[in-house]
Amino acid sequence: MYIEELEGAEPLPSFIVGSIVSPSDVERMLSSRAISVVIDTQKGLDVERDAREQGGVDLASFASGLRSKFSDKQIRLARVAIQETRPSVRDLLSAARERGAFHLDAAGTAVERVMSEAMTNAGAMIAVAKLKEKDEGTFLHSLAVSALMITFGRNLGLSEEAVRLLGLGGLVHDLGKMVLPTDLLRKPGKLTAEEVDVIRTHPARGHDLVKQIEDMPQAVLDICLYHHEKFDGTGYPHGLAGSAIPRVARITAICDVYDALTTVRPYKRAWSQAEAIETMSHSHGHFDPELLKAFISKMVINGTIH
Ligand SMILES: [Fe+2]
Repeated sequence: MYIEELEGAEPLPSFIVGSIVSPSDVERMLSSRAISVVIDTQKGLDVERDAREQGGVDLASFASGLRSKFSDKQIRLARVAIQETRPSVRDLLSAARERGAFHLDAAGTAVERVMSEAMTNAGAMIAVAKLKEKDEGTFLHSLAVSALMITFGRNLGLSEEAVRLLGLGGLVHDLGKMVLPTDLLRKPGKLTAEEVDVIRTHPARGHDLVKQIEDMPQAVLDICLYHHEKFDGTGYPHGLAGSAIPRVARITAICDVYDALTTVRPYKRAWSQAEAIETMSHSHGHFDPELLKAFISKMVINGTIH
């Protein structure tokens, strides 16, 4: 296959990018802990047709994993909370997709519900939202990132108002994707380099959407625009580095990638929490090291999330 880009890899021999890889290059890529690989199918082979079907998740084992970590009551309450936010999040997403509009009321309603459930049942809510079937992916990812940010914000000792803005930002961070072509978003697996460029316009598009509301707090705008910046300056859209990236966006980057890695999809083996944390810790330059350390100690090691 022709390698267009490797994301999240430790320094790699640069000849791998922009070339056809051999089996030994594949070994090296696997040990580099790259988060994603972009291939160009015009210049090399495609993935096997049924590759996505392999290693699919076993729903029964997902359910038994949940039951081993949480009580039936916690799981039931988490499901109810997610159900209850569904109408407002759906409204938020469809208003953006169909009319390029931002429904602040719908977002606010959902955030209040996530905030109250996360007070007592954050771990179960985040765990239940890991399973993202067909059309629920966007809804559940928004919800999970919001719940992670609310919980992380509280564990960092932030005020409830600051926590609410994190929750709102988490919910709308990817709203810019709603105005991208639906085919592109639904395309499973591989993306071409051109398609990746289009996807990379979503932070600016989301920022524009949310900015329609007068007096939108800066934290929410920053989360939309800067959640794909990386601590070493290699992110997008502006290549900001270190403390030039607003702290709320550095928090979002951690919660966004954590949920993406641990997500359970019908065609993808889910990463365990330990694998996700190990990979994120080895993605040198991606995340704010202090915040990542805090995420690990205040969210993972203390058992807030499983
Ligand atoms: Fe994003």
